Amino acid sequence: MNTIVVTVDKENPDIKVLAQAGDIIKSGGLVAFPTETVYGLGGDALNAQSSHKIYAAKGRPSDNPLIVHICDIKDLDAIVEEIPEFAKRLAEAFWPGPLTMIFRKSEKVPYETTGGLDTVAVRMPEHKTALEFIRQAGGYVAAPSANVSGRPSPTIADHVIEDLSGRVEMILDGGEVGIGLESTIVDLTEHVPMILRPGYITAEMLKTVIGEVTIDQAILHADSKEAPKAPGMKYRHYAPKGSLSIVEGNMEQVTTRIQHLLIEAKQAGRKVGVIGTDETVSLYADADVIKSLGSRTDEEAIARHLYKVLREFDEEEVTQIYSESFGDNKMGQAIMNRLLKAAGHQIIQA
Ligand code: TXA
Ligand code: MG
Repeated sequence: MNTIVVTVDKENPDIKVLAQAGDIIKSGGLVAFPTETVYGLGGDALNAQSSHKIYAAKGRPSDNPLIVHICDIKDLDAIVEEIPEFAKRLAEAFWPGPLTMIFRKSEKVPYETTGGLDTVAVRMPEHKTALEFIRQAGGYVAAPSANVSGRPSPTIADHVIEDLSGRVEMILDGGEVGIGLESTIVDLTEHVPMILRPGYITAEMLKTVIGEVTIDQAILHADSKEAPKAPGMKYRHYAPKGSLSIVEGNMEQVTTRIQHLLIEAKQAGRKVGVIGTDETVSLYADADVIKSLGSRTDEEAIARHLYKVLREFDEEEVTQIYSESFGDNKMGQAIMNRLLKAAGHQIIQA
């Protein structure tokens, strides 16, 4: 398949291009598009065949449900059985935005889209190009992150081209995304809303709107016996090709420990990479490849750069990577959740 790549001005997209992209979706094809979190791999959410194609293009297990993206709150009614009071308040506070909510699905949504579940995940992205594209596509776009299964989610169009060229009809290039980590997922089908995947919208932010929120314990602890409630969270995701370990402790212990570890690994003949921060990268001059995620004081920069840095290590063919760890306040919880998954939960206490 020949993939058309089109550059769009994300704030002021060319409607003709988006109409063309919408037509592809309506006729059962696939289009990758930018959102404020990561790039999505879009297909018609109400067409079972399109969902099949999405799974095939990503190489993703078909029991892992897709998020349905909408562009207008009025379109929610048709795809869910009911809209709980909590959801109305959350939508008002955070939509459009990086929040995905899980509802009981209506008959309109095929099981192919929900991975066989009776629930459906829905999100309205805060991104002009994404919203207009969804409108042109008929209002319901199923979209997982636009990476091949197991690779880090794409934060620039080049990542999408790398993974999906030849597998989708069109890629809309809207430049670098704003957030860089996938949306927060909250399940509203239980008595107390539960976070299934942490993201930019934190538990504290949700609590200010709906009072009570829990977090799926299975995603916080590697040794949990319970399976995560979001099927996708059980897969080792975002995995770099090299072995990645996270070093935890206070900053001075961490940097000293990484300095020792990297020298040992080099002596053992490995090509060593370090993931550090602006404040610390100069301490790792002995490593083969050193990358900074940004300043420790700028959590948003760290989130935005994480996936790009993980992909860069693959290109450099590093075999051993050590990463500093991050606090778990605010977005730190989402950053650590993705980093721990990338590391297959290999943690070294400094
Ligand atoms: O920011 C995002 O959410 C991006 C952009 C493109 O919007 N999308 C994204 O999709 O991250 P994906 O497919 O990579 O991750 C969706 C996650 C998976 O872990 C999946 O298991 C979970 O959402 N999920 C989807 N529907 C669900 C449902 N009905 N119940 C529980 N988990 C669900
Ligand atoms: Mg994904």
